[in-house]
Amino acid sequence: TEQSYIMIKPDGVQRGLVGEIIKRFEQRGYTLRALKLQSVERAQAEKHYADLSSKPFFPALVDYIISGPVVAMVWEGKGVVATGRKIIGATNPLASEPGTIRGDFAIEVGRNVIHGSDTVENAQKEIALWFGESLVDWTPAAKPWIYE
Ligand code: GTP
Ligand code: MG
Repeated sequence: TEQSYIMIKPDGVQRGLVGEIIKRFEQRGYTLRALKLQSVERAQAEKHYADLSSKPFFPALVDYIISGPVVAMVWEGKGVVATGRKIIGATNPLASEPGTIRGDFAIEVGRNVIHGSDTVENAQKEIALWFGESLVDWTPAAKPWIYE
């Protein structure tokens, strides 16, 4: 089944949005497969955003991601990569629709609260980078009430 790497950034943790964000993925019907609160090493943040290393905002982005603990998660379910990005909202919060996480809780692109994988392929790379093989295999009791 499809999986996405979802990460609450340091501003989301500092602002007490962890429960609110988890709730949105949980109530949609997605399955939590891994979860950890952790400080991030600079090298890890640089690897995670390696595709953006030539951007002028890259140093500030890495400083932001290592500025406090993050909540790293793997969520699983049908279409979770694309739907997760919809739940999160547009990169620039001023363009994010109300009802999305960024549209409800953020204003600036450099403090946009949450990360979500952009493709299934990148999701697999990011899950390997943040969790290795250590996902939890379990079957939610509600599964037949969510999937036909
Ligand atoms: P992520 O889910 O965090 O990967 O965001 P995204 O996929 O919506 O956007 P993208 O991967 O292009 O950029 C990664 C992150 O870099 C964004 O979420 C922002 O935190 C930051 N970022 C992107 N563009 C800008 C920018 O123009 N200025 C600044 N300061 N930060 C940016
Ligand atoms: Mg991205």
